Amino acid sequence: MSDTTLLAIETSCDETAAALAIEKEADPASWEILSTVIASQVEIHREWGGVVPELASRQHLRDICGVVERALRDGERGFAQLDAIAVTQGPGLVGSLLVGVAFAKALAVALDRPLVPVHHLAGHIESLFLCHPDLPLPTVVLVVSGGHTSLYHLPEIGTYRLVGRTRDDAAGEAFDKVAKLLGLAYPGGPIIDRLAQKGNERAIQFPVARMTHADRAAGPAIVSPPGFPKDTVGRMDFSFSGVKTAVARYLQRRRTSDPNPFSQNELADICASFQRAVVDALLDRAFEAARRFGACSLGIAGGVSANSRLRELAINRGRDQGLPVVLPTLHLSTDNAAMIAAAGLRQLRAGVTARPDLNAVASLAL
Ligand code: KG4
Ligand code: ZN
Repeated sequence: MSDTTLLAIETSCDETAAALAIEKEADPASWEILSTVIASQVEIHREWGGVVPELASRQHLRDICGVVERALRDGERGFAQLDAIAVTQGPGLVGSLLVGVAFAKALAVALDRPLVPVHHLAGHIESLFLCHPDLPLPTVVLVVSGGHTSLYHLPEIGTYRLVGRTRDDAAGEAFDKVAKLLGLAYPGGPIIDRLAQKGNERAIQFPVARMTHADRAAGPAIVSPPGFPKDTVGRMDFSFSGVKTAVARYLQRRRTSDPNPFSQNELADICASFQRAVVDALLDRAFEAARRFGACSLGIAGGVSANSRLRELAINRGRDQGLPVVLPTLHLSTDNAAMIAAAGLRQLRAGVTARPDLNAVASLAL
């Protein structure tokens, strides 16, 4: 066997992305990304204050051919040089996923190459190994994005065990919803991040939700990894709808008592205080999970891992506790196809391929 060249396609939400990656026969632990291309639809959805699924799938259709061709051109490869095609099968918007899945299936059949199904969150997790091939195992990974806030325990490479997740909103969703309440543009996360840099994060006490025992007993069960105590189940869950409601109530009270628009300082204080509540909740639970599972490192991936305060506090806390904290580069934090290529190469090596009747699954489990 020689080196493996893989084309990856990602269309789960509002980015059409393709990447070319190589796994070297001599060094399967590290991957080389030859090219990565992203066509963002943010400008289209901004007008509506969020992603409009029908507009997203139509735009994927317009963009996919050009994005794939560009990835091949940038990577200086032709279709005939591809050894495998990987694609995000789910979770995501089904109409968006279908564009990538249909394209990848057609390409795999036309070229007679294996088709590799990839879970979007496995992609986010593998973005960490792309940046840090020697990430110490076992590890705990917090995947924090617009659609998910989940904690995974990785006892070994390629094994992902869900040990905690949000009971309601994802953290990125909370950023986007609070930004909307403040009249800021979509997506709200990067805007709140920027405004918060000039604010006082202790100005307003927004509550950070803590799961009670009854809360823990409710909700769908998560399987505790073998060999771990039952009380780890549900202990590391998140909830972000409370903090979002607290911000809404605060804004309502302030607007009733004072009809003037928010000053720049006030806006910065609200953003910083909200961000602190979310970041504290994420890091408290993630570090607790790392301790309970005896992890040798903590990884944080997904769109919200681009947050500057989260990155700074995570690294500081890790240093204080002697626990290596790893994050993807900013480019690899938000949705991209390089991470799907990494997860695809991992799957291919494990012998996981799909038949040509592969279907997109909006709520695919990991
Ligand atoms: O992983 P991602 O690109 O797409 C999903 O799989 O959902 O994550 C997008 C989410 C959005 O909610 C966006 O507001 C948030 O990540 N985000 C941020 C930052 N950059 C992106 N949230 C907070 N601070 C940021 N700097
Ligand atoms: Zn994502």
